[in-house]
Amino acid sequence: MKVTVIGAGNVGASCAEYIALNRIASEVVLLDIKENFAEGKAMDLMQTATLNKFNTRIVGVTNDYSKTAQSDVVVVTSGVPRKPGMTREELIGINAGIVKGVCDNVLKHSPNTILIIVSNPMDTMTYLALKETKLPKNRVIGMGGILDSSRFKYYLSVAMGVPASDIHATVIGGHGDTTMIPLTRLATWNGVPVSKFLDDATLKKVAADTMVGGATLTAMLGTSAWYAPGASVAVLVDAILNDQKKIYPCCVYLDGEYGQKDICLGVPVIIGKNGWEKIVDYELNDEEKALFYKSAEAVRNMNKVLSEMKV
Ligand code: APR
Repeated sequence: MKVTVIGAGNVGASCAEYIALNRIASEVVLLDIKENFAEGKAMDLMQTATLNKFNTRIVGVTNDYSKTAQSDVVVVTSGVPRKPGMTREELIGINAGIVKGVCDNVLKHSPNTILIIVSNPMDTMTYLALKETKLPKNRVIGMGGILDSSRFKYYLSVAMGVPASDIHATVIGGHGDTTMIPLTRLATWNGVPVSKFLDDATLKKVAADTMVGGATLTAMLGTSAWYAPGASVAVLVDAILNDQKKIYPCCVYLDGEYGQKDICLGVPVIIGKNGWEKIVDYELNDEEKALFYKSAEAVRNMNKVLSEMKV
């Protein structure tokens, strides 16, 4: 199984590392535009192979798309990350040009691939990638919801003092500080609603912390986070390559589902060898539906900004 990761920066390299550590694919091609950068990252990672006992072959290339040929999955992380105080949406101008160019090149060499978009603003970049490549909708997936849900579980686990791995919780909607929707009502600890253990004020704080989870780290690190984003991509790649049929919240094209059309937005989907295979209806209540509608409006406005830019 072959995976290409475009962009060998923080998120891309971390994603390659988790794929190797978890033995998800036999080959990972890291591609970057910066001369020798991906080669260096690949060499450094390969020098951990004997220590970490993995057999994945990680190859770095500078802009040579021929080496990415016949990839089963291509992950797009190329672009600029945000700096402290920036929103993901502010990256649109520069990242749209990068994502468009990258997708064109990728498809020339891997026409049957499944595309995972990570570059921000991710919902709009996913929509752009789908329109640009004209791939079947099931083969274009934006990764944001898995990361946001993992942060939601982390904050719940801290508030409850229990292991995050015992918590089930999902974030849907846009992958933006104001557009994501932590579904507190459906969050459980070993099957029991978390509202049995946390009061309303704490639950609201957990949801608010989740929504700015990325911004909090950007302020601390001076650039956006990479371990959790990289690990989130790796589990998604695993679910595809190993046909796991897991339900993950992913940014996918909606054609009437969740009351929205002609937009890519985060909803729970079944992930398997065909990409996203089915949208799962979580039967939102009226309050959640209103939030989803608001989120869709914000993402639609961002898509409009993009279309007016004529990238
Ligand atoms: N082709 C290939 N690689 C590119 C291109 C391009 N056209 N343009 C930029 N890159 C590379 C950069 O050279 C850099 O190495 O993309 C890499 C991005 O890495 P970082 O700057 O470390 O950014 P990172 O933190 O990995 O974030 C990447 O993911 O989470 C999102 O908001 C984040 O949009 C950002 C993306």
